[in-house]
Amino acid sequence: MKLIVADDYEDLSRHALAWLRGALAGIDIPTVVLPTGNTPLGLYHNLATGSKGQFLANARFIQLDEYQGIPREDFRTLAGWFWRILLNPLSIPKTALISFDSSARDPDREAVRMEAVATKTDIDACVLGLGLNGHLGFNEPGSDFASQTRVVDLSADSIKSNAAYWGDEALVPRRAFTLGLGTLATSRHTLLLVSGPHKASILATALIGPQTPEVPATCLASFRDATVIADRSAIGAMPRGRSRHPSN
Ligand code: GLP
Repeated sequence: MKLIVADDYEDLSRHALAWLRGALAGIDIPTVVLPTGNTPLGLYHNLATGSKGQFLANARFIQLDEYQGIPREDFRTLAGWFWRILLNPLSIPKTALISFDSSARDPDREAVRMEAVATKTDIDACVLGLGLNGHLGFNEPGSDFASQTRVVDLSADSIKSNAAYWGDEALVPRRAFTLGLGTLATSRHTLLLVSGPHKASILATALIGPQTPEVPATCLASFRDATVIADRSAIGAMPRGRSRHPSN
């Protein structure tokens, strides 16, 4: 696992763009998994600037995670968020995103459908954010490293952190779909983006701590090609030279 320490959030977003471009170089129709959340906003802004995002024009996007049990047209769907912050600015049609049906009558069957989609062809590049409780996507603490795409109950921590997106915990749906950790592990290249002092403690645990389902992000050390880009404020709590696989 590679660790790149960025000077600040802007530098992190620049590194992320370079990483994504490099991961997809030479692939005509790449398959990509990208996160919602606040951390990737700088990357998405960079992609939408000028023609920098041109290399994604033909990409197919597989949705990382989605709330379950709300209408597809609900303002909170992560598919809608993803369209607003990335696809629309890049003039990429909605049809390029293969998404969960948040309103599926049979959620377990919907998860099986998306697992089949995600594993039919290789995911060329996967970018992830880090939950304050160590989650990846909505793979909450306790998630098996081999887990597949499924419906999960959101942890109290995730409901609290997601309330920041919608203004109130009462507005956060209690269940969600997520690609599984085992599903994500099939990606050719994986990038974890981590920014801010509030992530310093969980990042240190993710990089230094023992691999355990209690901290889902520790699974990254076993991925095919994983890179972490963290800014200095997120690196703060980590003792020097203690990364499990340091290289910078
Ligand atoms: C959210 C999402 C993740 C996201 C993570 C970090 O709950 N389920 O996909 O990457 O938490 O979010 P943020 O970047 O806003 O800190």
